[in-house]
Amino acid sequence: MFAKMRSEPGLCRVEPFGAYAASRYEDVLAVQKDAQRFSSEALAVTSEPSWLGSNPVAHSLLSQDPPRHTQLRALVSRAFGPTGLARLEAVVRREAESLAEAAVRQREVDLVDAFSFLLPRNVIGYMLGLEPSTFSEFKRWSVSMGLISSAAPEHYEGIRSTVREMKEYLGAVIAERRRKPGEDMVSDLVRAEVEGRKLTDDEILSFLFLLLPAGMETTTQLIGNAAILLARFPEQLERARADKAHIPRFLEEVLRYESPVQLTFRMNLSDVELAGTKIPAGNLVLGLIVSANRDERVFEQPEQFLPGREKGTQHLTFGQGGHFCLGAQLARMEARLALEALVSRIRELKLRSPEVEWLPGYAIHGPRVLPVELIPA
Ligand code: HEM
Repeated sequence: MFAKMRSEPGLCRVEPFGAYAASRYEDVLAVQKDAQRFSSEALAVTSEPSWLGSNPVAHSLLSQDPPRHTQLRALVSRAFGPTGLARLEAVVRREAESLAEAAVRQREVDLVDAFSFLLPRNVIGYMLGLEPSTFSEFKRWSVSMGLISSAAPEHYEGIRSTVREMKEYLGAVIAERRRKPGEDMVSDLVRAEVEGRKLTDDEILSFLFLLLPAGMETTTQLIGNAAILLARFPEQLERARADKAHIPRFLEEVLRYESPVQLTFRMNLSDVELAGTKIPAGNLVLGLIVSANRDERVFEQPEQFLPGREKGTQHLTFGQGGHFCLGAQLARMEARLALEALVSRIRELKLRSPEVEWLPGYAIHGPRVLPVELIPA
Protein backbone atom coordinates (compact mmCIF):
# COMPACT_ATOMS: atom_id res chain seq x y z
CA MET A 1 0.00 0.00 0.00
CA PHE A 2 2.82 2.41 0.82
CA ALA A 3 4.53 1.57 -2.50
CA LYS A 4 1.28 2.45 -4.25
CA MET A 5 1.06 5.75 -2.34
CA ARG A 6 4.65 6.59 -3.32
CA SER A 7 4.03 5.85 -6.98
CA GLU A 8 1.89 9.02 -7.26
CA PRO A 9 3.37 12.43 -6.46
CA GLY A 10 1.77 14.49 -3.71
CA LEU A 11 0.15 13.72 -0.37
CA CYS A 12 -2.71 11.34 0.21
CA ARG A 13 -5.79 11.90 2.47
CA VAL A 14 -6.05 9.14 5.11
CA GLU A 15 -8.12 8.17 8.12
CA PRO A 16 -8.09 8.77 11.02
CA PHE A 17 -8.55 12.55 11.14
CA GLY A 18 -8.66 12.96 7.33
CA ALA A 19 -4.95 13.71 7.65
CA TYR A 20 -2.63 14.45 4.74
CA ALA A 21 0.04 11.74 4.58
CA ALA A 22 3.47 12.23 3.02
CA SER A 23 4.85 8.91 1.76
CA ARG A 24 7.92 9.77 -0.36
CA TYR A 25 11.24 10.21 1.43
CA GLU A 26 11.79 13.82 0.35
CA ASP A 27 8.26 14.84 1.38
CA VAL A 28 8.50 13.15 4.80
CA LEU A 29 11.85 14.90 5.30
CA ALA A 30 10.34 18.26 4.31
CA VAL A 31 7.48 17.80 6.79
CA GLN A 32 9.83 16.80 9.62
CA LYS A 33 12.36 19.58 9.02
CA ASP A 34 10.18 22.58 8.30
CA ALA A 35 8.87 23.65 11.72
CA GLN A 36 7.60 26.96 10.31
CA ARG A 37 5.14 25.39 7.90
CA PHE A 38 4.51 22.18 9.86
CA SER A 39 3.98 22.83 13.55
CA SER A 40 4.46 20.21 16.28
CA GLU A 41 1.85 21.80 18.51
CA ALA A 42 -0.65 19.50 16.81
CA LEU A 43 0.44 16.75 19.16
CA ALA A 44 -1.26 18.54 22.02
CA VAL A 45 -4.58 17.98 20.21
CA THR A 46 -4.11 14.22 19.98
CA SER A 47 -2.90 13.75 23.57
CA GLU A 48 -5.42 15.95 25.34
CA PRO A 49 -8.86 14.84 24.10
CA SER A 50 -11.87 16.39 25.88
CA TRP A 51 -12.67 13.21 27.87
CA LEU A 52 -9.19 13.27 29.41
CA GLY A 53 -8.61 16.88 30.43
CA SER A 54 -5.13 18.11 31.21
CA ASN A 55 -2.29 15.78 30.27
CA PRO A 56 1.28 16.96 30.96
CA VAL A 57 2.67 15.15 27.90
CA ALA A 58 0.67 17.50 25.67
CA HIS A 59 2.99 20.33 26.77
CA SER A 60 6.29 18.48 26.46
CA LEU A 61 9.27 19.23 24.26
CA LEU A 62 7.83 17.07 21.50
CA SER A 63 4.85 19.39 21.00
CA GLN A 64 6.63 22.75 21.06
CA ASP A 65 7.82 24.92 18.19
CA PRO A 66 10.82 27.27 18.12
CA PRO A 67 11.82 29.46 19.86
CA ARG A 68 10.42 27.76 22.99
CA HIS A 69 11.37 24.32 21.74
CA THR A 70 14.98 25.37 21.16
CA GLN A 71 15.31 26.72 24.69
CA LEU A 72 13.66 23.70 26.36
CA ARG A 73 15.76 21.29 24.33
CA ALA A 74 18.98 23.03 25.36
CA LEU A 75 17.93 22.59 28.99
CA VAL A 76 17.31 18.87 28.78
CA SER A 77 19.74 17.61 26.15
CA ARG A 78 22.96 17.46 28.18
CA ALA A 79 22.13 14.14 29.79
CA PHE A 80 21.85 12.53 26.34
CA GLY A 81 25.23 13.70 25.06
CA PRO A 82 28.35 11.53 24.68
CA THR A 83 29.63 12.15 28.24
CA GLY A 84 26.34 11.17 29.86
CA LEU A 85 26.10 8.06 27.69
CA ALA A 86 29.68 6.96 28.31
CA ARG A 87 28.96 7.05 32.04
CA LEU A 88 25.88 4.89 31.48
CA GLU A 89 27.46 2.22 29.27
CA ALA A 90 28.78 -0.01 32.07
CA VAL A 91 25.36 -0.02 33.78
CA VAL A 92 23.54 -0.93 30.56
CA ARG A 93 26.04 -3.70 29.81
CA ARG A 94 25.71 -5.20 33.29
CA GLU A 95 21.93 -5.12 33.06
CA ALA A 96 21.90 -6.63 29.54
CA GLU A 97 24.26 -9.43 30.59
CA SER A 98 22.20 -10.38 33.60
CA LEU A 99 18.86 -10.34 31.70
CA ALA A 100 20.33 -12.34 28.80
CA GLU A 101 21.82 -14.87 31.21
CA ALA A 102 18.45 -15.42 32.91
CA ALA A 103 16.52 -15.63 29.60
CA VAL A 104 18.91 -18.18 28.07
CA ARG A 105 18.79 -20.24 31.27
CA GLN A 106 15.00 -20.48 30.92
CA ARG A 107 15.44 -21.41 27.25
CA GLU A 108 11.75 -20.98 26.29
CA VAL A 109 10.61 -17.45 27.06
CA ASP A 110 8.45 -14.58 25.92
CA LEU A 111 11.36 -12.40 24.85
CA VAL A 112 9.37 -9.17 25.27
CA ASP A 113 8.50 -9.97 28.85
CA ALA A 114 11.85 -11.46 29.83
CA PHE A 115 14.26 -9.23 27.95
CA SER A 116 13.38 -6.58 25.39
CA PHE A 117 11.06 -4.59 27.70
CA LEU A 118 13.03 -5.04 30.93
CA LEU A 119 16.29 -3.59 29.63
CA PRO A 120 14.96 -0.15 28.52
CA ARG A 121 12.69 -0.01 31.56
CA ASN A 122 15.52 -0.62 34.00
CA VAL A 123 17.80 1.79 32.15
CA ILE A 124 15.36 4.71 32.10
CA GLY A 125 14.46 3.99 35.74
CA TYR A 126 18.15 4.10 36.62
CA MET A 127 18.77 7.30 34.62
CA LEU A 128 15.95 9.07 36.40
CA GLY A 129 17.09 7.70 39.76
CA LEU A 130 13.72 6.04 40.44
CA GLU A 131 13.14 3.41 43.09
CA PRO A 132 13.40 -0.10 41.49
CA SER A 133 10.45 -1.42 43.53
CA THR A 134 8.20 1.01 41.61
CA PHE A 135 9.34 -0.12 38.11
CA SER A 136 6.62 -2.77 37.90
CA GLU A 137 4.00 -0.02 37.38
CA PHE A 138 5.73 1.42 34.29
CA LYS A 139 4.45 -1.12 31.76
CA ARG A 140 0.81 -0.53 32.66
CA TRP A 141 1.36 3.24 32.52
CA SER A 142 3.07 3.24 29.14
CA VAL A 143 0.48 0.94 27.55
CA SER A 144 -2.31 3.14 28.89
CA MET A 145 -0.63 6.38 27.67
CA GLY A 146 -0.07 4.82 24.25
CA LEU A 147 -3.82 4.23 23.89
CA ILE A 148 -4.91 7.87 24.23
CA SER A 149 -5.27 8.83 20.56
CA SER A 150 -7.23 5.67 19.68
CA ALA A 151 -8.98 4.91 23.01
CA ALA A 152 -12.50 3.46 23.15
CA PRO A 153 -14.85 4.77 25.90
CA GLU A 154 -14.25 1.67 28.06
CA HIS A 155 -10.56 2.75 28.36
CA TYR A 156 -11.28 6.32 29.46
CA GLU A 157 -11.39 5.74 33.21
CA GLY A 158 -8.24 3.59 33.18
CA ILE A 159 -6.31 6.28 31.27
CA ARG A 160 -7.59 9.07 33.54
CA SER A 161 -6.40 7.13 36.54
CA THR A 162 -2.98 6.49 34.91
CA VAL A 163 -2.50 10.24 34.36
CA ARG A 164 -3.43 10.85 38.02
CA GLU A 165 -1.05 8.15 39.28
CA MET A 166 1.82 9.36 37.12
CA LYS A 167 1.31 12.99 38.18
CA GLU A 168 1.37 11.95 41.81
CA TYR A 169 4.39 9.66 41.47
CA LEU A 170 6.54 11.93 39.29
CA GLY A 171 5.45 15.08 41.17
CA ALA A 172 6.72 13.50 44.40
CA VAL A 173 10.03 12.58 42.71
CA ILE A 174 10.54 16.20 41.56
CA ALA A 175 9.71 17.59 45.03
CA GLU A 176 12.16 15.14 46.62
CA ARG A 177 14.98 16.13 44.23
CA ARG A 178 14.36 19.83 44.86
CA ARG A 179 14.88 19.08 48.56
CA LYS A 180 17.79 16.69 48.09
CA PRO A 181 19.42 16.72 44.63
CA GLY A 182 21.56 13.73 43.65
CA GLU A 183 23.41 12.45 40.59
CA ASP A 184 20.38 11.44 38.49
CA MET A 185 18.66 13.11 35.53
CA VAL A 186 15.75 14.57 37.52
CA SER A 187 18.29 16.35 39.72
CA ASP A 188 20.07 17.58 36.56
CA LEU A 189 16.76 18.94 35.29
CA VAL A 190 16.12 20.69 38.61
CA ARG A 191 19.60 22.32 38.38
CA ALA A 192 19.61 23.02 34.60
CA GLU A 193 19.86 26.65 33.59
CA VAL A 194 20.11 28.31 30.17
CA GLU A 195 20.47 32.07 29.82
CA GLY A 196 19.48 32.55 33.43
CA ARG A 197 16.29 30.51 33.08
CA LYS A 198 15.46 27.34 35.03
CA LEU A 199 12.77 24.73 34.41
CA THR A 200 9.53 24.95 36.36
CA ASP A 201 7.98 21.89 38.08
CA ASP A 202 5.33 21.71 35.34
CA GLU A 203 7.98 21.70 32.61
CA ILE A 204 9.94 18.93 34.32
CA LEU A 205 6.72 16.96 34.83
CA SER A 206 5.84 17.26 31.12
CA PHE A 207 9.30 16.10 30.14
CA LEU A 208 9.14 13.07 32.44
CA PHE A 209 5.67 12.19 31.11
CA LEU A 210 7.28 12.09 27.66
CA LEU A 211 10.51 10.40 28.65
CA LEU A 212 9.21 7.46 30.63
CA PRO A 213 7.13 5.90 27.82
CA ALA A 214 9.43 7.22 25.02
CA GLY A 215 12.46 5.63 26.65
CA MET A 216 10.76 2.27 27.10
CA GLU A 217 8.32 1.56 24.28
CA THR A 218 10.44 2.40 21.25
CA THR A 219 13.64 0.67 22.36
CA THR A 220 11.64 -2.39 23.42
CA GLN A 221 10.33 -2.60 19.85
CA LEU A 222 13.80 -2.14 18.36
CA ILE A 223 15.19 -5.07 20.38
CA GLY A 224 12.10 -7.20 19.66
CA ASN A 225 12.24 -6.46 15.91
CA ALA A 226 15.97 -7.24 15.91
CA ALA A 227 15.28 -10.62 17.56
CA ILE A 228 12.68 -11.48 14.90
CA LEU A 229 15.16 -10.68 12.13
CA LEU A 230 17.90 -12.72 13.84
CA ALA A 231 15.49 -15.66 13.80
CA ARG A 232 14.53 -15.09 10.15
CA PHE A 233 18.12 -14.60 8.97
CA PRO A 234 20.23 -17.10 10.95
CA GLU A 235 23.32 -16.12 8.92
CA GLN A 236 23.04 -12.66 10.54
CA LEU A 237 23.13 -14.27 13.98
CA GLU A 238 26.26 -16.19 12.89
CA ARG A 239 27.96 -13.00 11.68
CA ALA A 240 27.06 -11.10 14.83
CA ARG A 241 28.46 -13.94 16.95
CA ALA A 242 31.68 -14.07 14.96
CA ASP A 243 32.19 -10.30 14.87
CA LYS A 244 30.65 -7.85 17.36
CA ALA A 245 31.40 -5.02 14.94
CA HIS A 246 28.63 -6.36 12.70
CA ILE A 247 25.95 -5.63 15.31
CA PRO A 248 25.66 -1.84 14.72
CA ARG A 249 25.33 -2.44 10.94
CA PHE A 250 22.67 -5.07 11.55
CA LEU A 251 20.78 -2.76 13.92
CA GLU A 252 20.84 0.16 11.52
CA GLU A 253 19.11 -2.01 8.94
CA VAL A 254 16.59 -3.21 11.55
CA LEU A 255 15.83 0.47 12.23
CA ARG A 256 15.21 1.09 8.52
CA TYR A 257 13.37 -2.13 7.74
CA GLU A 258 11.09 -2.43 10.79
CA SER A 259 10.91 1.08 12.20
CA PRO A 260 9.60 1.10 15.81
CA VAL A 261 8.03 4.52 15.16
CA GLN A 262 5.97 4.51 11.99
CA LEU A 263 5.02 8.17 11.59
CA THR A 264 5.31 11.70 12.92
CA PHE A 265 2.46 14.18 13.44
CA ARG A 266 2.44 17.85 12.46
CA MET A 267 -0.18 20.52 11.72
CA ASN A 268 0.04 23.26 9.10
CA LEU A 269 -1.02 26.55 10.70
CA SER A 270 -1.44 28.36 7.36
CA ASP A 271 -2.30 27.22 3.83
CA VAL A 272 0.68 25.38 2.34
CA GLU A 273 1.57 23.45 -0.76
CA LEU A 274 3.82 20.38 -0.72
CA ALA A 275 4.72 18.23 -3.73
CA GLY A 276 1.86 19.82 -5.65
CA THR A 277 -0.77 19.14 -2.95
CA LYS A 278 -2.53 22.17 -1.50
CA ILE A 279 -3.19 21.72 2.21
CA PRO A 280 -5.63 24.20 3.78
CA ALA A 281 -4.62 25.60 7.20
CA GLY A 282 -5.37 23.49 10.28
CA ASN A 283 -4.86 19.98 8.90
CA LEU A 284 -2.93 17.11 10.42
CA VAL A 285 0.06 16.20 8.27
CA LEU A 286 1.63 12.78 8.77
CA GLY A 287 5.19 11.93 7.82
CA LEU A 288 5.12 8.22 7.05
CA ILE A 289 8.57 7.14 8.23
CA VAL A 290 7.61 3.55 7.45
CA SER A 291 7.14 4.45 3.79
CA ALA A 292 10.11 6.85 3.47
CA ASN A 293 12.39 4.07 4.74
CA ARG A 294 11.36 1.88 1.79
CA ASP A 295 11.46 4.62 -0.86
CA GLU A 296 13.08 3.18 -3.97
CA ARG A 297 14.31 6.69 -4.89
CA VAL A 298 16.75 6.52 -1.97
CA PHE A 299 17.30 2.86 -1.07
CA GLU A 300 18.16 0.24 -3.67
CA GLN A 301 16.12 -2.96 -3.33
CA PRO A 302 14.22 -1.42 -0.41
CA GLU A 303 12.21 -4.57 0.33
CA GLN A 304 15.39 -6.57 0.96
CA PHE A 305 16.94 -6.81 4.43
CA LEU A 306 20.58 -5.92 3.71
CA PRO A 307 22.70 -4.90 6.71
CA GLY A 308 25.61 -2.67 5.70
CA ARG A 309 23.72 -1.41 2.62
CA GLU A 310 24.61 1.88 0.94
CA LYS A 311 22.94 4.87 2.61
CA GLY A 312 22.03 2.47 5.41
CA THR A 313 22.01 5.21 8.07
CA GLN A 314 19.81 7.59 6.08
CA HIS A 315 16.53 6.11 7.34
CA LEU A 316 14.13 8.57 9.01
CA THR A 317 13.40 6.34 12.00
CA PHE A 318 14.59 8.91 14.55
CA GLY A 319 13.00 11.84 12.70
CA GLN A 320 14.95 14.82 11.36
CA GLY A 321 15.41 18.51 12.06
CA GLY A 322 14.82 20.22 15.39
CA HIS A 323 12.88 17.31 16.94
CA PHE A 324 15.44 14.64 15.97
CA CYS A 325 15.17 11.96 18.66
CA LEU A 326 17.06 12.95 21.80
CA GLY A 327 17.43 9.30 22.77
CA ALA A 328 18.74 8.00 19.42
CA GLN A 329 22.26 7.27 20.65
CA LEU A 330 20.95 5.84 23.89
CA ALA A 331 18.57 3.52 21.99
CA ARG A 332 21.39 2.39 19.68
CA MET A 333 23.65 1.71 22.66
CA GLU A 334 20.98 -0.26 24.55
CA ALA A 335 20.14 -2.38 21.52
CA ARG A 336 23.82 -2.99 20.71
CA LEU A 337 24.60 -4.14 24.26
CA ALA A 338 21.40 -6.20 24.37
CA LEU A 339 22.37 -8.08 21.22
CA GLU A 340 26.01 -8.49 22.28
CA ALA A 341 24.82 -10.11 25.51
CA LEU A 342 22.27 -12.31 23.75
CA VAL A 343 24.16 -13.54 20.67
CA SER A 344 27.26 -14.45 22.65
CA ARG A 345 25.14 -16.94 24.62
CA ILE A 346 23.10 -18.59 21.86
CA ARG A 347 23.72 -20.34 18.58
CA GLU A 348 20.12 -20.16 17.42
CA LEU A 349 17.01 -18.11 18.11
CA LYS A 350 13.80 -19.94 17.15
CA LEU A 351 10.37 -18.30 16.94
CA ARG A 352 7.89 -20.68 18.53
CA SER A 353 5.08 -19.40 16.36
CA PRO A 354 5.48 -18.78 12.61
CA GLU A 355 3.21 -15.70 12.75
CA VAL A 356 4.38 -12.74 14.82
CA GLU A 357 1.66 -11.13 16.92
CA TRP A 358 2.27 -7.42 16.28
CA LEU A 359 1.15 -4.59 18.58
CA PRO A 360 -2.22 -3.12 17.69
CA GLY A 361 -2.28 0.52 16.54
CA TYR A 362 -0.56 2.37 13.74
CA ALA A 363 2.10 4.44 15.51
CA ILE A 364 4.40 1.95 17.24
CA HIS A 365 5.62 -1.20 15.51
CA GLY A 366 6.96 -4.29 17.25
CA PRO A 367 5.90 -7.68 18.62
CA ARG A 368 3.24 -7.66 21.36
CA VAL A 369 4.60 -10.97 22.65
CA LEU A 370 7.49 -13.01 21.28
CA PRO A 371 7.59 -16.67 22.32
CA VAL A 372 11.04 -17.96 21.41
CA GLU A 373 13.39 -20.83 22.10
CA LEU A 374 16.96 -19.76 22.82
CA ILE A 375 19.38 -22.54 21.90
CA PRO A 376 22.48 -22.06 24.08
CA ALA A 377 25.89 -21.81 22.40
C1 HEM B 1 14.51 2.88 18.71
C2 HEM B 1 14.14 3.74 19.62
C3 HEM B 1 13.56 5.10 19.32
C4 HEM B 1 12.92 5.58 18.20
C5 HEM B 1 12.63 4.83 16.91
C6 HEM B 1 12.56 6.96 18.47
C7 HEM B 1 11.93 7.80 17.55
C8 HEM B 1 11.72 9.15 17.73
C9 HEM B 1 11.20 10.05 16.73
C10 HEM B 1 10.75 9.65 15.33
C11 HEM B 1 11.18 11.30 17.28
C12 HEM B 1 10.76 12.59 16.56
C13 HEM B 1 9.29 12.83 16.67
C14 HEM B 1 8.86 14.02 15.86
O1 HEM B 1 9.59 14.54 15.02
O2 HEM B 1 7.69 14.43 16.06
C15 HEM B 1 11.67 11.18 18.63
C16 HEM B 1 11.77 12.23 19.53
C17 HEM B 1 12.15 12.07 20.83
N1 HEM B 1 12.64 10.93 21.43
FE1 HEM B 1 12.91 9.14 20.56
N2 HEM B 1 12.96 7.28 19.74
C18 HEM B 1 13.59 6.19 20.30
C19 HEM B 1 14.16 6.09 21.55
C20 HEM B 1 14.17 7.10 22.48
C21 HEM B 1 14.73 7.00 23.81
C22 HEM B 1 15.45 5.77 24.37
C23 HEM B 1 14.50 8.19 24.43
C24 HEM B 1 14.85 8.65 25.81
C25 HEM B 1 15.17 7.92 26.82
C26 HEM B 1 13.81 9.05 23.47
C27 HEM B 1 13.41 10.34 23.71
C28 HEM B 1 12.92 11.21 22.76
C29 HEM B 1 12.60 12.60 23.03
C30 HEM B 1 12.76 13.32 24.37
C31 HEM B 1 12.12 13.14 21.83
C32 HEM B 1 11.63 14.57 21.60
C33 HEM B 1 12.70 15.42 21.00
C34 HEM B 1 12.21 16.80 20.63
O3 HEM B 1 11.00 17.02 20.50
O4 HEM B 1 13.06 17.71 20.49
N3 HEM B 1 13.63 8.36 22.30
N4 HEM B 1 12.01 9.86 18.88
